[in-house]
Amino acid sequence: MELLEEQRETWGTRGGFVLAAVGSAVGLGNLWGFPYKLYSYGGGAFLIPYIVAMFCIGIPLLILEFSLGHFTQRAAPDAFRRANKRLEFIGWWGIILGFVIITYYPIILAYCFSYMGDSIAAIFSGQPLPWAGEGVEGVQNASNYFFKDYLTGGTYIGPFRSEILYMLILAWVLMYFCIFRGVKLVGKIVWLTVPLPWIMLVILAVRGLTLDGCMKGLAFYLDPDWTQLAKPTTWRFAFGQVFFSLSLAFGVMLTYASFLHRKSDINNNAAIIGIADFATSFIGGIAIFATIGGMAYVTSQAGQPVPVNEVINGGPGLAFVAFPYALAQLPAAAWWSLIFFFMLVTLGIDSAFSITESVLAGIVDKTGWRRSIVLPTMSIVGIGTGLMYITIDGLSFLGTVDGFVNGTWGIAFIGLIECVALGWFSRLDVLRQHANERSDWRLGRWWNLLIRVLIPVVLGTLFFWSLYDNIQEFNAGKFLRDTEGKWLIDDCVGMGIMAAACILAVSMSFIRSPHNKAEKQLPRQELIKTSSARATGIVGFAIAVLALLVFIYIRTGRQNQALLFVSMGVGVASLVLCHILMERFDNGVSRPSHFARWGGLLSIISISLCVLVILTELSKKVAGTHKAPIEHADHLSGTSYTILGVVFVLIVFGLGWCFWRAIMAASANEPEQQPES
Ligand code: PHE
Repeated sequence: MELLEEQRETWGTRGGFVLAAVGSAVGLGNLWGFPYKLYSYGGGAFLIPYIVAMFCIGIPLLILEFSLGHFTQRAAPDAFRRANKRLEFIGWWGIILGFVIITYYPIILAYCFSYMGDSIAAIFSGQPLPWAGEGVEGVQNASNYFFKDYLTGGTYIGPFRSEILYMLILAWVLMYFCIFRGVKLVGKIVWLTVPLPWIMLVILAVRGLTLDGCMKGLAFYLDPDWTQLAKPTTWRFAFGQVFFSLSLAFGVMLTYASFLHRKSDINNNAAIIGIADFATSFIGGIAIFATIGGMAYVTSQAGQPVPVNEVINGGPGLAFVAFPYALAQLPAAAWWSLIFFFMLVTLGIDSAFSITESVLAGIVDKTGWRRSIVLPTMSIVGIGTGLMYITIDGLSFLGTVDGFVNGTWGIAFIGLIECVALGWFSRLDVLRQHANERSDWRLGRWWNLLIRVLIPVVLGTLFFWSLYDNIQEFNAGKFLRDTEGKWLIDDCVGMGIMAAACILAVSMSFIRSPHNKAEKQLPRQELIKTSSARATGIVGFAIAVLALLVFIYIRTGRQNQALLFVSMGVGVASLVLCHILMERFDNGVSRPSHFARWGGLLSIISISLCVLVILTELSKKVAGTHKAPIEHADHLSGTSYTILGVVFVLIVFGLGWCFWRAIMAASANEPEQQPES
């Protein structure tokens, strides 16, 4: 297949790219998002939806983004435009949401810089850390230090906390210097910013596991509460976390892949990145919970036991209250906390600049403006918008905005649109073949089925589920309002930002750029639209409409549950038909009519709705029957040991297999030509 050869800057080496992508994926989300969500949504049981999401959705989507970025050699908006002229808005949408993240992500880095400063001061002065304290009072101390002294105390410039502002500027200056010379330099910097936090994380984990009482902490982390699996929120959080953690749907991975060397592997890299990200999250959780177990032990020995579940109170609470408090109990506390916050900085900085890079590349590719002008402007805008989060209520606003980015209309929704758009309205198989031609191992046609059919149905179900919840909140007068019915300003602003992102994305895609004229599209398949293909497409479309009508009929009160299965069956039939038509297109047999494409989309909608109804009914039943609290013992239960073992085997064998394939492929001069499966 013809490649779009362009003179584009590339990463120096394969390692540089893989590390940069891992650096983007592995970030603050791994260290507070994952452990906290795992703990809150069923302990070890949460790993089931998470692993399913990672392997069945995360990695296949990563491959999709890599191959689109690599094929088109453009940042997200242009890449989507080349896939189909009308799809550019998807790229912009992801990028704009990425920009929303980049307004608040450096704020967390700013906190880390401040805490690092405090730790260094404590090392030199020999004084205890400012948040240190014993027992229950100590926890109160640590919490007061963060929420009162640090976030809202101190000096102000207007309504803004001055210390956080300086640290915010520091974060942006660092990010600027990491990316101002382009990706070649990034490819070198990540050799430092990726291994360093890993080393520190392992040190912290080993330290945690050698503390008395660490097993209690691990029991908190891993003991499964299987009932959580019946709750939709558990699944939604698991899927959302995978998207956020793998930096999917923000155009970041796509942009990074656009700078890849033409012959670079795609599939194996994606698998390595996904598994490495999962491993980091899991080990991060062990480090955090073992240390907290140690803290629980120390405080209970001193006769002032601290209730662990009260200490672990949301993401920021975990990183800036619980963990600093726990570390303060150790000998050489200041050194340990320096290591911890330095680790957070190195962990987060490469994620932060990856988003900046994707926004930057999107703008540069579209407008042709110079990087040296766009980047400083972006940095100033970034600092300016960051001011919103350094006022008195800044942290809670940050949480709200983060919730929206990860919520119903956020990333998982864009991921859904991405799959539907590329699967049904572009040439998916071109991307699969592109990835296969240069990869250490090949994707079979199952990947098309996954991207075109299965992932959209799963994400569609979760999307409608969230929407359904929102509608119910709205009907109960609770949507964007508090319990007394008063409007929540933060939520309204958050909602406004999401709406603005969507409108802006669509508007950007209408702006014509001088670069669009000369662009090359994904190769078109000049096939005749045969009358049989058209007729089948129309039939597929008609059946999909029928499925939807049956569903609406059931929901408008004439409920006959059996009909639900009829609707679902009809939907599946139409989906299969339309998918076959698309596959025939990929095989060069005939061109599908637009009916087949829209039929596919409609049937995805109708199946998702049916699955949603079935699952809500089921979850009502399960939630009503048992509600066992997690049993927290001083020792890990047998199940938890099994979970620990299974996860380690998965990680070690997964990574081992990927590296083995890479070595095999590198040692073979000619890439092996396997038959298409
Ligand atoms: N993946 C990063 C993390 O886990 C966050 C991120 C999101 C980075 C989106 C880039 C894009 O923290």
